[in-house]
Amino acid sequence: MDKGIPKNILITGGAGFIGSHVVRRFVTKYYDHYNIINLDALTYAGNLENLKDVEEAPNYSFVKGDIAHSDFINELFSKHKFDGVIHLAAESHVDRSISDPVSFVRTNILGTVNLLNASLQMAKDNPDFLFYHISTDEVYGSLGKEGFFTESTAYDPNSPYSASKAGSDHFVRAYGATYRLPYVISNCSNNYGPNQFPEKLIPLFINNIIQNKPLPIYGDGNYTRDWLYVKDHAKAIDLVFHRGKKGETYNIGGFNEWKNIDLTKLLCRLMDKKLKRQEGFSEKLITFVKDRPGHDLRYAIDATKINQKLGWEPSVTFEEGLEKTIDWYFDNQEWLDHVTSGDYLEYYKRQYQA
Ligand code: NAD
Ligand code: DAU
Repeated sequence: MDKGIPKNILITGGAGFIGSHVVRRFVTKYYDHYNIINLDALTYAGNLENLKDVEEAPNYSFVKGDIAHSDFINELFSKHKFDGVIHLAAESHVDRSISDPVSFVRTNILGTVNLLNASLQMAKDNPDFLFYHISTDEVYGSLGKEGFFTESTAYDPNSPYSASKAGSDHFVRAYGATYRLPYVISNCSNNYGPNQFPEKLIPLFINNIIQNKPLPIYGDGNYTRDWLYVKDHAKAIDLVFHRGKKGETYNIGGFNEWKNIDLTKLLCRLMDKKLKRQEGFSEKLITFVKDRPGHDLRYAIDATKINQKLGWEPSVTFEEGLEKTIDWYFDNQEWLDHVTSGDYLEYYKRQYQA
């Protein structure tokens, strides 16, 4: 990589779960190539504690702001003249999208379009500019018992969340076709690992097992997800940003399908071992509850393209990744306490008033 003047790279949603791993990777690995500007609104899901270890790095800065505010976005782009954008900021939780779809339209669609508009000027001034949209496999809808999502699977979203991500993907492609904006998109499967907010299945259940609370399984628990360790996703994002072909899409997934009920039982076994509880203790916490409306039966990614074109593959097995994740939540009980009590919101919002 050319060691000339460092480039200004905007990462949106960098205080969130996946974004914080991407920020850390880029700040440390490319410290003399990139200035990383992390733009995040610090919603309930944004937590600067995720980035404590890099906040003093000279090539890192944080800006608090909302991607749905176009004037603010335009000013930020004029000031920093970004050379690239890696866009992760989003409302990301399916259950919240069912009770509050409008927030998902606002951030995921309007926010993305604001970033695309501001990017047009950057692309005019800089032929190497790239807009990278981080998306989800949920845009493809639900699989039956067989088959995989490939890059050419038709979009068929079922939840307000996935509809909003599908909409934002369409806008990115439309800006490529209409205005020649250089872009790449990746659609990834379910992530897990350190720093994930405990509303999502794995961290919620780890926290509930620690606290001896029920593990609410939606429906019969036979829904299937394809799980990927978050650092392997960050590695894939690094590869797609640097080596992905402009105007193309890459599916990212771990070839690692688990029914929710089987995953929960595995987690219970690992947690019993960790907590030195009698085998079978945590499984007794499993409780079947009302199903999620519009619940997609199965996701499974065919990651052949990114594997063959960019040489990417996951670095950890599921059991290794889960053990690392469990260890992280045990070693970071304070993080978990702050997040579950909401303390982190007060502290960091006071520090970064817009
Ligand atoms: P997250 O909810 O943990 O983080 C989202 C971040 O975006 C938060 O820091 C939040 O403060 C910020 N944000 C929200 N609204 C904003 C706004 N209006 N302006 C600026 N910042 C705002 O999400 P995540 O799980 O880390 O997901 C990151 C991205 O990856 C999302 O685009 C999501 O759709 C996508 N994705 C997630 C998964 C997964 O399993 N978590 C899988 C595939 C794709
Ligand atoms: O596939 C990628 C997507 O994965 C991302 O785009 C989303 O941002 C991310 O939230 C995730 O969506 P899911 O809906 O699959 O994740 P969640 O952790 O909410 O649920 C995983 C599965 O577990 C799903 O089938 C619903 C089920 N579930 C979830 C929760 C929170 C339960 O049975 N009980 C629960 O309490």
